[in-house]
Amino acid sequence: MNPWTHLRSIDPADSGLLPADRTSFLADDGHTLLDVVYDWERAHRELGFGRDPALFAKRLALGAACATGSSEAMLDASGVWRFRELLPFVRAPHDTVSVGEGKTLLQRNDALARLLGFEPWRMPDGSRSDRPGLFLQYEGLNPSGSFKDNGMTAAFSHARMVGAKKVVCASTGNTSASLALYASAAGVPGFVLVGSGKIAMGKLAQALDYGARTLQVDGDFDACLARVRELSTDRPELGVYLMNSINPFRLEGQKTIMFRVLDALGWQPPDWVVVPGGNLGNCSAFAKAFLELHELGMIDRIPRLAVINASGARTLDRIYNELGIRWNHGRCDNASIRTEYSRMDAAGERAATVATAIQINRPVNLPKALRALDVMDGVVRSVDDHCIMEHKALVGRHGFGCEPASAASVAGARRLLEEGIIRPDERVVCILTGHALKDPDATVRYHAIHRHGRAGDVSIPLGCSSNRPVPVADDVEAILREMG
Ligand code: F0G
Repeated sequence: MNPWTHLRSIDPADSGLLPADRTSFLADDGHTLLDVVYDWERAHRELGFGRDPALFAKRLALGAACATGSSEAMLDASGVWRFRELLPFVRAPHDTVSVGEGKTLLQRNDALARLLGFEPWRMPDGSRSDRPGLFLQYEGLNPSGSFKDNGMTAAFSHARMVGAKKVVCASTGNTSASLALYASAAGVPGFVLVGSGKIAMGKLAQALDYGARTLQVDGDFDACLARVRELSTDRPELGVYLMNSINPFRLEGQKTIMFRVLDALGWQPPDWVVVPGGNLGNCSAFAKAFLELHELGMIDRIPRLAVINASGARTLDRIYNELGIRWNHGRCDNASIRTEYSRMDAAGERAATVATAIQINRPVNLPKALRALDVMDGVVRSVDDHCIMEHKALVGRHGFGCEPASAASVAGARRLLEEGIIRPDERVVCILTGHALKDPDATVRYHAIHRHGRAGDVSIPLGCSSNRPVPVADDVEAILREMG
């Protein structure tokens, strides 16, 4: 690890530095989450980095041209590692495990913006500029089809540096697909625990195909996470390296989604970033990215954050909006959170949503997410399954296939626009976290099957954007009639 890298408890009262080669990802008290921290002055002096973001765009062009060349060129071709001075824990290119992740895209989508009620940006003189409101950050273009690859390349690079022999995760699907891909690339045995029947088919198919040992646990995501924590944290003698987002190196990689957004916007921060919330690693990583860039003097303001839960898995929404729990300078009301979890258990309340990716009861990064909401003046909302599927279809119609959880961001942005919290003239970036082909069943049920298709225990209503396949005779005239 580079000597300017350490781990530190997120508790502001505990400023002690821990070694970065540690593989227990909790503070010594056994429960507080850790951050990766850097001595930025030293890192940038020794790396000769002048904090000029133009370098990152230049690498994009260079890396694309010589991706088969030296290792440096391979790093330049990665949408994560072309920003390496902003996550500077890796010593040398050969320490990095990369499969060309992060070649994703920020697209201004005027047609969808108009449909949702955003206005083209108005200039002070009343004229219209070319700055309409809605941008989609399409992370489905990653090698495993979801944004998880951003974090996985970073955590696998850490795992390689500490000599991990086995890697494990619990997952609602995408983390397992991503882990499986990187484990095969790194040549390390990968183990994934998924809730039996709880993950979408495309994701299960990936984990199997990439060769991870896939354990279908008789329980949900929360149960799987509890088991992998027992395996990795409580039994260090097993040498099993944990790849869930409790691992702070995962979040270092996830920061780069925001770097790419900024890169595409000429390093002018948007007004809002809207992201679906599950285990709450990504929203936490986004806030860390903006806070660090602000401290480094590379941006002059921090955007606002909207975290969108599914109504059937709205733990954060309840904790933030109903119980009013806040970061509170690191002294968040943990007793009330524990009471809420006990209440959920006693009431038999289990997460259930068509957006299986975010079907989580106890988000492990909750304290970091509360900090992120504090740093980014954030809001939290929930959207129901009907609304998620409608917005998924709208996103599809406007050029991007995404999975249900991803569409929660667009549905949430519309809700915030209707509430007047997002203004129609603001610049809003919605993160489309995973590809449509991750969950083809949900899509086909929505469009084609029947009024109340079922995904697990969740009814999927047939909505106004559904596009039924039309049965037709094997006859050209009949086909022409149907073509209108
Ligand atoms: N969108 C998708 C497509 C996801 O797969 C996830 C999380 C999220 C959003 C939420 O991100 O956890 O950082 O708040 N999926 C995890 C998994 C939990 O196991 O694949 P988060």
